[in-house]
Amino acid sequence: MAINQTENLFDDFAADYDRMINWEERLRREAPLYRKVFSDTGATRVLDTACATGQHAIMFSSWGLEVAASDISSDMIAAAQRNAEEAGGTIDFKTAGLAEIDRVFSPGFDVVNCMGNSLPHLKSKESLLKAFSSVAGVLKPGGFFLLQVRNYHRVYARNERFMPLNSRAEGDREYLYLRMIDLGEEFLNFNIVVLAKNEAGKWSYRVESEKLKPWKFSDIEPCLQKNGFAVSGVFGDFGFGPFEPLESTDLIVIARKNG
Ligand SMILES: C[S@@+](CC[C@H](N)C(=O)[O-])C[C@H]1O[C@@H](n2cnc3c(N)ncnc32)[C@H](O)[C@@H]1O
Repeated sequence: MAINQTENLFDDFAADYDRMINWEERLRREAPLYRKVFSDTGATRVLDTACATGQHAIMFSSWGLEVAASDISSDMIAAAQRNAEEAGGTIDFKTAGLAEIDRVFSPGFDVVNCMGNSLPHLKSKESLLKAFSSVAGVLKPGGFFLLQVRNYHRVYARNERFMPLNSRAEGDREYLYLRMIDLGEEFLNFNIVVLAKNEAGKWSYRVESEKLKPWKFSDIEPCLQKNGFAVSGVFGDFGFGPFEPLESTDLIVIARKNG
């Protein structure tokens, strides 16, 4: 059994990521929020950051938007490119961390998207500020930044250490994904236990772990303001529910770049 404590847990995780997530169900749940943001803002050019295997970017492209997407992991970007080719979408993919997007894309995006609890991979306030500065650099004046993280107020208050179990069967192979968190004062340790059954019916497991920073709204808002953003909407779930610190599952923030 291997326990891999890494700087980016998702670096070597592209195949598992598409097995772990039920994309059809997830995108069906999230799509109304993106559709509303894109339609309210009249967006035509969208950048999906920390895009992983590109599933959001592919959906946005299927809606007729001009889409670019980036991730710090070249493995994720390779998987995203394969997924986009299969889906027939034309997407400008780049391997780039959040702090580098203003160096790899030309400015003028209407919306920059950062979903799936990606910001906690940025472990210091300085790196959060750099990332937001880079997002501001690629947005047009008046453009929107849409971000989501888990609601860590609730996670900590309820000691929510386990996420729902995900499973996938592929022929004779089976996979189980158990995501669990060790909550610490300043950081948490995020673990994914991957249990895999091979064709011979033999089970094995490995654990992927990464230290994450549980950013809350009170951390995020001042960093947005310092980079010329004003928060224009805060939601607690993808159904536009209000953000309730002790109840909401998500923290979803819509911020407008001044100008
Ligand atoms: C939890 S996944 C979320 C992926 C996707 N956005 C979603 O909603 O499912 C986090 C992603 O962030 C990427 N990542 C980690 N650190 C990053 C950084 N500093 N800049 C950009 N992407 C990063 C990982 O490679 C991974 O693909």
